[in-house]
Amino acid sequence: MTAETVIPGPAGNPLVGSLFDLTRRPLRTYLAARRDHGDVVRIQAGPPGLRADFYAVFSPEGAQQVLGGEAANFRKDNAFYDELRTSVGNGLLTSQDGDYQRQRRLIQPLFTRRRVDGYAGAIAQEVKSLTERWRTAPDGVVDAADEMSRFALRTVARILFGADVEEAVAVVQRSFPVLGEYVKDRGFAPVRVPRSWPTPGNRRGLEAQRALYEICDRIIAERAARGGGDEDADDLLTLLGRARGEDGERLDPSELRDQVLVFMLAGHETTATSLAFALHLLAKHPEQRKLAREEARTVLAGRAPTAADLEALPYLTRVLKEAMRLYPAAALTGRRAVAETVIDGYVIPAGAQVVVAPLVTHRHPDHWVDPERFDPDRFLPEEEKARHRYAWFPFGGGPRACIGQHFSMLESVLTLGAVLRDFDVEAVDRRVALSQGVTLRAASPMRIRVTASD
Ligand code: HEM
Repeated sequence: MTAETVIPGPAGNPLVGSLFDLTRRPLRTYLAARRDHGDVVRIQAGPPGLRADFYAVFSPEGAQQVLGGEAANFRKDNAFYDELRTSVGNGLLTSQDGDYQRQRRLIQPLFTRRRVDGYAGAIAQEVKSLTERWRTAPDGVVDAADEMSRFALRTVARILFGADVEEAVAVVQRSFPVLGEYVKDRGFAPVRVPRSWPTPGNRRGLEAQRALYEICDRIIAERAARGGGDEDADDLLTLLGRARGEDGERLDPSELRDQVLVFMLAGHETTATSLAFALHLLAKHPEQRKLAREEARTVLAGRAPTAADLEALPYLTRVLKEAMRLYPAAALTGRRAVAETVIDGYVIPAGAQVVVAPLVTHRHPDHWVDPERFDPDRFLPEEEKARHRYAWFPFGGGPRACIGQHFSMLESVLTLGAVLRDFDVEAVDRRVALSQGVTLRAASPMRIRVTASD
């Protein structure tokens, strides 16, 4: 069978194509594109002459081809990754080729299960301060998105910076959202003004970047002056600084800073989004909430959670996976094709910007029964086994899959457990609007009533 060269897609506006749909409501645009045009869609954006084509791939098989089987043909050379690289540096998420191979070799040993389990203490410490705050929340109402964002940022900062956490958190809380917004605005814009122009957007973004670089560089330099950090310190920054390859290779101070920023970016809003939506879904669904609370109260009765508890919390794990199905934090990701290839019977040209969309594949009616319904039991082991590997891929896949997957699951499940053990939760806002920043997030209040159960 010969492959199709004409790829279906929305007609868009005659002057700018689907530009405004893609910049203002990308999630709805991609969901509608699959529904109306199928599993491979071409979306054109921008005025003639500056028009960019996006090739979106929605089937699990197509996603596997892009991220897994043909990963070498799909590079992180698109506008979004270029922008990310310029803003947060050439760390593990953004680097490629030799730099990437070297970094992965040095960093992978810090993410073994045993190492990551060692962070459960830091997670438990932050959960404790979260639940203490909730006991004094005015009217017992909190915004799940705000709370989880603050919590996940503090947790990742504690794991990265150890004893220096408070110093880092103040700057990161102020500057990181500004830099994130800057990356999103530029990464998704078809036309970008040069960074050197003194526009208000550039000034804000670059000031936030400067503040973040400065705090990271300062902490790194102080540690170097103390001979690489305290002997018994086991925070990630110390471990990254000490990491050595077989031939003595290591990360230099600027590479160390880039890793720190990338970990903060990749490990903060993503986990926050998953946790916030998991909590909010339970707050809306009493039957599932009851099961989740029963499990939490049985397993975690009267003590802080530890890494060993993860195995004993299968229902909460299923809740989290289902929340990540409906609301995958990395809702869209992209690559650039090096050579022409065929996906699902369509020719994807060399140089094409290719989008894979977990959000769309996770709600694909050919792969999920009643896809909009919240049902954690879709993740019972036998159900999982029966599905295509890429029907659910919130952590990506192939050689560039998320290195923080176990860390994030550990953090999210233990946190959800500790919170539900201590509080009943009920939704105040039932419908939540979504928006796409660097990650997926709530664009409207996501308040829940939290009632302490003694
Ligand atoms: C729910 C939480 C998380 C989600 C949904 C998530 C999702 C992802 C996805 C989809 C990718 C692949 C991106 C692509 O292919 O373009 C990725 C890569 C990555 N993630 Fe995560 N992530 C999460 C948590 C974390 C955490 C907690 C960390 C670190 C502590 C982390 C660090 C990274 C890094 C360093 C990469 C790049 C890996 C590589 O290219 O070798 N992530 N993540």
